Amino acid sequence: MSQDIFHVLRSDQFDRSFLDELYEITNKLRKLARTKKGNDYLQTLISDKRAILYFTQPSTRTFLSFLNACQILGIQTSEIRDPNTSSEIKGETADDAIRTFSSYVDLIIMRSPRAGLADKIAKLLDETPRRVPVINGGSGKDEHPTQALLDIYTLRRSFGKSGGDIDGKSIAMVGDVCRGRTVRSLSRLMRHFEGAKVYFVSPDTLKIGDDLREDLKKNNVAFEETTDFENIIPVVDAIYMTRIQDEHDKDGESKHIDYSKFHFTYDHLKVLKKDAIIMHPLPRRKEIDVKVDADPRAKYWRQERNGMWTRVALIAKIFGIDKDITKPYGI
Ligand code: CP
Repeated sequence: MSQDIFHVLRSDQFDRSFLDELYEITNKLRKLARTKKGNDYLQTLISDKRAILYFTQPSTRTFLSFLNACQILGIQTSEIRDPNTSSEIKGETADDAIRTFSSYVDLIIMRSPRAGLADKIAKLLDETPRRVPVINGGSGKDEHPTQALLDIYTLRRSFGKSGGDIDGKSIAMVGDVCRGRTVRSLSRLMRHFEGAKVYFVSPDTLKIGDDLREDLKKNNVAFEETTDFENIIPVVDAIYMTRIQDEHDKDGESKHIDYSKFHFTYDHLKVLKKDAIIMHPLPRRKEIDVKVDADPRAKYWRQERNGMWTRVALIAKIFGIDKDITKPYGI
């Protein structure tokens, strides 16, 4: 029996059966979307629904992939990307602003610099007569659950043509593993894969926090922490690069960190396993040399496209139309 879902707030809310089912829906809808007939069909499924994208922190991929995911399913959208253009500028709280959205739409997709805001809003709406689903598209330093869903999908698709498994595989998460919310959300999902191991590779000053360390231990996720990137590259099955999250600096402290030791260079391709993959949630700065992009092991451009399809599947699951996708046209 698969897991029902309403709000999407944190990656640890997903169980293994949910992941398996979500990716089955994702694969099926990708096939449907290859034809005009399939696309037209998908657009009829929830064309009576409306969504708002409330993104008060910058975003390219998450915003556009959710917007396009809604369009694929025929959902009408509205958006606020700058709180200065909403009545928050008149002193309205974010809580009241978001409660207002629920008067008009059937789904709220939000990104915020505030950790925990999506959870807070979901709880608040649960107490109102207009309870609508909330999807967290990234909240401060703490969570980016839909990024973790697309990352797991990318790992599984990359480890074998028919959807290889992550069981027994090792992944290096590299860079600012302290403040990167994608690292937190993805590493929490590794609990669902037998024998998988995470290497956190970072400068000493940007190691994972105690809360994540304790969470991984409690959930039997095997992990190691190191500053030695060079030695890890030949060992792992996947490398997950991240940029320094200097928007969270208190006083420009990132400037004093030598992040170049955590860059993936063209020469590193020589020592990387031949069937290993390179990922990045993007945007990148200099963490991956652009010359690496042409190597077949570089999966980050596919990863961002996978994000759109997994988000279509997620919305389909929320609105209970998943069976219309796995068994289309009523057959
Ligand atoms: N990966 C990701 O969240 O990218 P954006 O910030 O561009 O949405």
